[in-house]
Amino acid sequence: MNDHVRLVIENGIGVVTIDRQEALNALDDGVLAGLEEAFLALGRDPSVRAVILTGAGKAFVAGADIKAMAAFTPVEARAFAQRGQRIFTLIEDYPHPVIAAVNGYALGGGCELAMTCDIRIASEKAKAGQPEVNLGVLPGFGGTQRLARIMGRSAAKYLLFTGEVIGAARGLELGLFNEVVAPENLLPRCMEIAAAIAAKAPVAVSFVKHAVNEGTDGPMAHGLSLEAELFAGTFGTQDQKEGMRAFIDKRPPQFLGK
Ligand code: CAA
Repeated sequence: MNDHVRLVIENGIGVVTIDRQEALNALDDGVLAGLEEAFLALGRDPSVRAVILTGAGKAFVAGADIKAMAAFTPVEARAFAQRGQRIFTLIEDYPHPVIAAVNGYALGGGCELAMTCDIRIASEKAKAGQPEVNLGVLPGFGGTQRLARIMGRSAAKYLLFTGEVIGAARGLELGLFNEVVAPENLLPRCMEIAAAIAAKAPVAVSFVKHAVNEGTDGPMAHGLSLEAELFAGTFGTQDQKEGMRAFIDKRPPQFLGK
């Protein structure tokens, strides 16, 4: 994509790697632009069924770039937050599942980036937190909102107020991470999960993501109505016919993604 973000697509799985190791993959203009380009490119490729997002070296992402932000005026800070939020929402809204392979530090904007993903698998070396209060600021790329939605307001406020950095085991207890694995198993395990998802009916998987993302923040009636519409929508796909026919015929289904 650019000097700091790589995208490889193979067998229906996209792997996005942030590689700005000299700054522990901190999010500057270039990394943000690379992430945006990568997810726009993924959106144009109909072969992709699942994506893995990770960092090169010892960090996932150590936050937004503090050196770039240090001299911001309030107007510049607002524009930076809005840009980051727009790109992070693009990732969150990407129609297929995105798995964060949290290989190391996921701090500030890095924790916020991991939280835009649907599933977070952590290496035993992962460290996560929202340490912005140490810098005299608060999270600007969605941390106050997504952390509270993932782990509940009470646990989220504790981490946001204290800036405490937690290890992988605590992240697992709080529901930030779905699973913790040995560092050498991180990418293989994420690949295994991505491949398992890629073998399912793609439209159905994509509708699941939409139903959870769009349906669970508002009233139950809205979520249920959305679910019923999406359920109906799957009955217009060839994959619904194939999936149910394969069950009745006692054979594995061959999904086409339509
Ligand atoms: N921004 C810019 N540069 C960063 C960075 C960041 N967020 N995190 C690390 N770096 C740079 C360091 O400045 C250092 O560069 P130099 O070699 O040029 O000095 C290099 O990466 C290596 O970092 P350290 O020497 O600090 O490595 P360490 O192993 O001793 O410590 C660390 C690792 C604990 C992650 C430490 O780097 C750190 O605390 N980083 C900052 C974490 C942070 O506060 N993140 C939140 C940022 S604010 C934010 O994200 C706002 C938002 O929501 C949008």
